[in-house]
Amino acid sequence: MLGIESSCDETSIAVVKNGREVLSNEIASQIDIHTRFGGVVPEVASRNHILCINNVLKKSLETAGVTIDDIDAICVTYGAGLSGALMVGVNFAKGLAFACNKPLVAVNHIKGHISANYIQNKTLKPPFLCLVVSGGHTAILKIDDFLHHTLIGQTLDDAIGEAFDKVARVVGLGYPGGPKIDKEAKNGEYNLHFVKKSDLDKTYNVSYSGLKTAVINYLHTKEQNHEPINVADVACSFEHEAVDMLVEKVVRAAKEFGFKTVTMAGGVAANSYLREQMQLACEKNNLELTYPSLILCTDNGAMIGAEGYNNLILDSNVCYDLSVSPNPSLKL
Ligand code: KG4
Ligand code: ZN
Repeated sequence: MLGIESSCDETSIAVVKNGREVLSNEIASQIDIHTRFGGVVPEVASRNHILCINNVLKKSLETAGVTIDDIDAICVTYGAGLSGALMVGVNFAKGLAFACNKPLVAVNHIKGHISANYIQNKTLKPPFLCLVVSGGHTAILKIDDFLHHTLIGQTLDDAIGEAFDKVARVVGLGYPGGPKIDKEAKNGEYNLHFVKKSDLDKTYNVSYSGLKTAVINYLHTKEQNHEPINVADVACSFEHEAVDMLVEKVVRAAKEFGFKTVTMAGGVAANSYLREQMQLACEKNNLELTYPSLILCTDNGAMIGAEGYNNLILDSNVCYDLSVSPNPSLKL
């Protein structure tokens, strides 16, 4: 399978065998380009995808030691994501599929993040529980089989990744927010308390807008009083509160629904404090934990190849033709 990913600021193309074995996973990141703007500029992202996608394909085939003739299907992210950025990947994939007479498999980006776990853990099979934590999603899902899932809980407002990015911006750490908070938090202490007890505590749902606003209000008050801010302590305290509420809910859900295996998916699953806390909580509760390696947590083509493989093999409704178009607000 060829897996093509261009939904945001990475252009990535991978060659994946049997949905689990990564032969290549080339990633051209645009982080340096967007850093000076303080965030991803959609038009700039699209233009850079156009500039590099052909070379990324060449490198990916070369690294895998295959030619396009060895590829059985072309899998591409068609949503969710930035409209123009998706357009580049989808149209590139369509052109390739048409020219080489290969099936085209349209892949849901978030389902791709979940399938990164099959690459990481070669024996992993549904059913299992998955914590999806990304720039646009925060959800606890029951993965029923390779194609279907059931929602157990989710954010009622902002996604966790959005909260990391916003807090990084207001505290002056800038883009990319998640990794910067992760790094800075290691120099700080959890000595600030932003979240209060809430009715959500007993449920599997979470809310991040309250936490985000509490951090912003704290910073404003400090500024008005001309008091110094300890950025590392703010990062560490925010990170603890954002992560702790999820870990508790995931473990509780695994117990209530009788799951032995827990997984994580999405960019925020790269967070070192989340990985550490989840590991501790799962060990304590006799749960098996799988999470993708750092490179497979953030956007990459391999996860799209893995998810596309499942669709091609198992989904009789999969769209194989060239009629697919990008869907920026595609739901899970
Ligand atoms: O999964 P992803 O690519 O987004 C969507 O597909 O929606 O993840 C991007 C998000 C961003 O919000 C980014 O700040 C966050 O993942 N992220 C992190 C870390 N690395 C990436 N958040 C916390 N700690 C990290 N180390
Ligand atoms: Zn993503």
